[in-house]
Amino acid sequence: FTPDRIRNFSIIAHIDHGKTTLSTKLLSLTGTLPEKIYGKQYLDKLQVEKERGITVKAQTCTMIYRNKEDGKDYLLNLIDTPGHVDFNYEVSRSLMACQGALLVVDAVQGVQAQTMANFYLALDAGLEVIPVINKIDLPTADVNRVKQELKDVFGFHPDDCVLVSAKTGIGIKDILPAVIERIPPPSSEGIKKTFKGLLFDSWFDRFRGVICLVKVVDGQIKRGEQIVAAGSGQVYEVFDCGIMHPEQKTTGALYTGQVGYITPGMKTSKEARVGDTFYIKDHPVEPLPGFQPAKQMVFAGVYPVDSLDYNPLKDSFEKLMLTDSSISISKENSVALGMGFRCGFLGLLHMDVVLQRLEQEYGQIVIATPPTVPYRCLLTSGEEKIISNPAEYPTPDVLDRTFEPMVKGFIVLPTEHFGAIVKLCMDSRGIQQNHETLEGGRIRLTFSFPLAEIVTDFYDNLKRVSSGYASLDYEDNGYAESDVVKVRILLNGEEVDSLSAIVHRSKAQNFARSLVKRLKNVVERQMFQVNIQAAAGGDILSRETISAMRKDVTAKCYGGDITRRRKLLDKQKEGKKRMKSMGCVELSQEGFLKLMKSS
Ligand code: GTP
Repeated sequence: FTPDRIRNFSIIAHIDHGKTTLSTKLLSLTGTLPEKIYGKQYLDKLQVEKERGITVKAQTCTMIYRNKEDGKDYLLNLIDTPGHVDFNYEVSRSLMACQGALLVVDAVQGVQAQTMANFYLALDAGLEVIPVINKIDLPTADVNRVKQELKDVFGFHPDDCVLVSAKTGIGIKDILPAVIERIPPPSSEGIKKTFKGLLFDSWFDRFRGVICLVKVVDGQIKRGEQIVAAGSGQVYEVFDCGIMHPEQKTTGALYTGQVGYITPGMKTSKEARVGDTFYIKDHPVEPLPGFQPAKQMVFAGVYPVDSLDYNPLKDSFEKLMLTDSSISISKENSVALGMGFRCGFLGLLHMDVVLQRLEQEYGQIVIATPPTVPYRCLLTSGEEKIISNPAEYPTPDVLDRTFEPMVKGFIVLPTEHFGAIVKLCMDSRGIQQNHETLEGGRIRLTFSFPLAEIVTDFYDNLKRVSSGYASLDYEDNGYAESDVVKVRILLNGEEVDSLSAIVHRSKAQNFARSLVKRLKNVVERQMFQVNIQAAAGGDILSRETISAMRKDVTAKCYGGDITRRRKLLDKQKEGKKRMKSMGCVELSQEGFLKLMKSS
């Protein structure tokens, strides 16, 4: 296949607008996927993805398609992208390998915050965008309104919209001819040059090691050749290469414009740095502009429920990180929880996904502390520190100023929810920056927010006050000085480090009151009185007391057969194991989880 018969494209959309359904349909239309596994939505591979119906890891597939127009076969490379704000970096990395994108918009919901965010990512990457209106089978579909919106917001001509139902298959046959006609082929200028490849994704395969997805920008690469990763200067041998059709299908070579995999015998996926350039050994080339590595925005302590499980948890993390290189971990010690890890995630959903994978794929049940964002602290000594663990927050005597990460948030909402949403934004310390009216009685607001406000329950609240109709997207917006304090929790005067939090001063009092109340509900009564206090600096912000338990003289005597008694004993043992002692106070795992969940 010469470049003129190759098309590299992505599908971008707001979450749930139907990317995965559409991709799967295209794969089955081109016979890439046998009809029988098609129903399983092949592209969503991870178990969490299936459960939640969201795509986390982008999958790439090559289709071979005979174009009716000229009767020729085309090599179409489809790159599926995730649709959640946490994973925007995956979207941009996928787009680097494309010349075009299908922008899928739900015919009922119309343009949403991530439709816009993704459109601008595609525009920045210089892609040709084809608007696709999906779900036209729904009785509430309003195709004309959505066409008008696409015209007003992005300037698409209504005739350029492809109308489909990915579910029933209506209109699907119009998509690939549009891809061939409207998306430009990859550049053929580099055919005669020496090999230059862009590494845009990688994962770990148990049998074959690290598999890298590359786009061949110039020249060609063959099995057995020696290549160099420009970023590290490391030399690798290409053990195998080929296309994803839909799994790895060896071809022995990849040519200019193609997208495919190579297996370079790397030991961990950390070596496969996304955005890196590969070239043939002894034939160096100018590296491609690399893109930003994934940035962890949310941090939490992750601890094994039983401290004996520290090593197994460590192993599980290491394995998981082979497939997800966007997590960061470092050892952490907590007085209350023992040995564990401080983990960095891309966002809250990513954190959820990782914890769920730890449990489902590795059987690790963990306790996670409330998430926090990284604060930049300027010390009186002139030193600067990034603090991602509240327990390490500098004491007031050595701290000069603190800066917190900010984001620019874009919210698309129906007009009738305007008042409630602006109030929510202001309560979340948001500052309005822009206000645009969209087609169909909707508004797009731009706010500047502290990231800390967004990573708590902002998204849920937004959905609640708008009955699910408002959508959010946000991007990094640097750091801003902030008046934050560390709220410490004391149980009988002893500090519980894992419950410390960094909170804006204006919210410290409420935060303290609510945490102390919740603690009172989950801490079991002990043989002695328990004082719960929340303090900031030297001030006590809130306090509660749990009175001592009276000795239980009516303890039940169990009769019955021995197996039942043994079962009961085992159960009790299990329960013991799951107790976490905090200072002098024991808290059941369940209680702790309840506390963490509600914070
Ligand atoms: P993420 O991967 O999470 O970003 O979602 P997605 O955009 O890939 O959406 P997905 O394909 O999972 O579809 C979301 C929901 O819409 C699913 O319940 C689909 O069955 C449904 N759906 C997709 N396309 C159509 C369609 O054309 N008509 C109807 N009625 N439902 C559709």
